[in-house]
Amino acid sequence: MTPPSSRKPLPAHVVVTGNEKGGSGKTTVAMHLAVGLLHLGFRVGCIDLDSRQQSLARYIQNRRDWIEEHRLPLAMPESAVITASAADSRQDAVREEQEAFAQALAGFSRSCDFVIIDCPGSDSPLARTAHMFADTLITPINDSLLDLDLIARLDPVDWQLRGAGVYSDLVWTLRGKRRAERRTGIDWVVTRSRVGALADRNKQKMTESLNRIQQVLGFRLAEGFGERIIYRYLFLWGLTVLDLRGAGLDIEMTRSHLAARQEVLALIRMLWLPNVDERLDRLLAENPL
Ligand SMILES: Nc1ncnc2c1ncn2[C@@H]1O[C@H](COP(=O)(O)OP(=O)(O)OP(=O)(O)O)[C@@H](O)[C@H]1O
Ligand SMILES: [Mg+2]
Repeated sequence: MTPPSSRKPLPAHVVVTGNEKGGSGKTTVAMHLAVGLLHLGFRVGCIDLDSRQQSLARYIQNRRDWIEEHRLPLAMPESAVITASAADSRQDAVREEQEAFAQALAGFSRSCDFVIIDCPGSDSPLARTAHMFADTLITPINDSLLDLDLIARLDPVDWQLRGAGVYSDLVWTLRGKRRAERRTGIDWVVTRSRVGALADRNKQKMTESLNRIQQVLGFRLAEGFGERIIYRYLFLWGLTVLDLRGAGLDIEMTRSHLAARQEVLALIRMLWLPNVDERLDRLLAENPL
């Protein structure tokens, strides 16, 4: 199979979760987005590019096991993981992995409405290729200046923008290539992860900085998921905060769970994905928060 050409438009809308910083919430966002879109009645395919951790693929496998064991009427995404090639030369390994990715993407883009690609927390040839296919790119960042440094270099005195971070540079390069090949850009959305409830001065300054630099660096800032225990504890069951009712768990819905559901749906709306708004309105009318 030849690698997919990013010149040809794919039938499915492709969402990539990417950030070279590890542990920023990419997989958590990818899984919640996948399940959110399933709840809206879309067909979803997920591709895990993290051949080592395979967190998204494992999350989905846990869901499959739980659903089958308890005969739950919950929807499943399609899932593929691109495993590391055992080829001797680096060149062959990269080619094999690109081919496996091409195959998964071509298959899901025919059978699904959305393809969600979860990148590892590092730069890799495969992650770069995936970014070239991103109609929407979601970059979660932790509430830390260290994480922000990959997006923007800030002045320590006045917090003004001094330059793009390494990841912003990469997105700009790939975006330019994509525009040249396909005449279409990437809708880049940066979300803040795990923001705590307490207000502090640095958090306030980070909010101001991100708001100020979004236009210059070419992303849209969106509210991400707050710091909540529930996001950390559903992995073993393959569930998300959108599945808590009727998922066979002995969990009482708390205000924090409801707030989590609300922030997941708010993020999905903020992504401006095709045909989502109307279905989201219907879902909220049928299941008010
Ligand atoms: N909103 C949240 N509240 C609490 N914990 C969270 C939240 N989002 C993510 N986490 C936890 O933070 C850790 C990192 O999240 P996740 O694995 O989604 O990040 P990642 O960017 O995919 O990491 P990697 O770069 O290693 O792939 C995990 O333990 C996850 O359960
Ligand atoms: Mg991950």
